[in-house]
Amino acid sequence: MSINKWREEVYMAKSKQVYVCNYCGQESSKWIGKCPSCNKWNTFKEYIIPKSSSSSFQAETSFATQSAPIKLNEISTEKDLRIDMKDQEFNRVLGGGLVPGSLTLIGGDPGIGKSTLALQTALKLDNLKVLYISGEESARQIKLRASRLEYQSENLYIVCETTIDTIFSHIKQEAPNLVIVDSIQTISNPQIESSPGSITQIRECTTAFLQLAKQTHIPGFLIGHITKDGNIAGPKSLEHIVDTVLQFEGDQHYMYRILRSIKNRFGSTSEMGIYEMRQNGLHEVLNPSGVLLSNSSENMSGTAVASAIEGGRPFLIETQALVSSAVYGTPQRSATGFNIKRMNMLLAVLEKRVGFKLAQKDVFLNIAGGLKIDDPATDLSVISAILSSNMDVAIESSLCMAGEVGLSGEIRPVNRIEQRIKEAEKLGFKRFILPYYNYKNLANPSSQIELLPAKKVEEAFRFIFG
Ligand code: TYD
Ligand code: MG
Repeated sequence: MSINKWREEVYMAKSKQVYVCNYCGQESSKWIGKCPSCNKWNTFKEYIIPKSSSSSFQAETSFATQSAPIKLNEISTEKDLRIDMKDQEFNRVLGGGLVPGSLTLIGGDPGIGKSTLALQTALKLDNLKVLYISGEESARQIKLRASRLEYQSENLYIVCETTIDTIFSHIKQEAPNLVIVDSIQTISNPQIESSPGSITQIRECTTAFLQLAKQTHIPGFLIGHITKDGNIAGPKSLEHIVDTVLQFEGDQHYMYRILRSIKNRFGSTSEMGIYEMRQNGLHEVLNPSGVLLSNSSENMSGTAVASAIEGGRPFLIETQALVSSAVYGTPQRSATGFNIKRMNMLLAVLEKRVGFKLAQKDVFLNIAGGLKIDDPATDLSVISAILSSNMDVAIESSLCMAGEVGLSGEIRPVNRIEQRIKEAEKLGFKRFILPYYNYKNLANPSSQIELLPAKKVEEAFRFIFG
């Protein structure tokens, strides 16, 4: 069936008209001036939704014939072989490789390296026929980018198109093993009266790609920009259309990039992959602890090492603090890679517990390597680094720590302590401060690293500063 005929059937025969808020994706059967969900004015646009999607994009696959109910224990999972991305970090984030017929959305700030990641992956998969659809860059630009990367593939096809019809007919004709769309915001369906990049267009096109993926078993990657408020392509509604949502993040001024899974129908969402952006593309960082520590041999005040767990993996991070006398009336506070509210709370604990003069000090905190850390177990190292800088006393470089700090200065237990200790041990740390309750429940305490249990921050400081 031709695409146009399919469209006619879907849109003309079984369509319904709705109004959708272009800002948040709220639906309504009537036009409304002010969106009840996000309170924005004049955001409702008319939108035609196909009622049934069953007859869309026919492909000669077995998928369409599987309409009869199947017994759960008769469904074979053997077919669910995963495609090896030839990239350990990517495989891990996807939950062990790419699932055939899945649709993955990769979101991230502009310039973070989404196109580079997609192109590099396409080039690495030289055993698969990959169709790279670009609505943002010309074929020449892609070629130039590819020439910077160290991989080559005979099987990569580039299409610079933005209308969904043409794209689908290319996919039908080429029958690739993988489709990459860069970016979904540039693709549009001319039948819908809405500009490319609007929520109605993005939703419509994403749904069409999802149907295509399910029916043809061709997996797809959609690249999406992040809007100012941090959501992928605006509405959350896009995230529930696709199977997997990955976020590519990092600080543009640092070389490390993190690929995180936010939603994954085929794997865990706690996975994370770390890359380093170099002149010739993205390189996997297989041993994050090693690179994130600055490895300075001299002891300098204001740095403390934490054994953190992010994305299911332990790694050691360096927290750096600088405390100086406040010059202006209001002391300055700044935190990079760490929640500033949490830092303020920790400062208040310091004031209460060890008489840190909060009002007279500027405090700057930085997580080395441009990482953003959410793990509460880094609290102890943050508070120690601040105190170390304040007293100008260095923390010995063979000391590592993990512990959440509570409001009354108590050190609260953290999860997966064994893994944290093991990581510190692996990197040659000699002493490890841990919450007392974790220590008490430790099954077989390690003999290689000296464990220092602490119930309160004061006790931890005694271990650190004597
Ligand atoms: P890009 O993939 O274009 O970002 P996005 O698609 O997310 O907008 O990446 C752009 C940045 O990456 C750009 O600043 C240049 C840098 N870069 C490298 O450092 N090394 C490389 O090999 C490549 C291709 C890009
Ligand atoms: Mg791009």
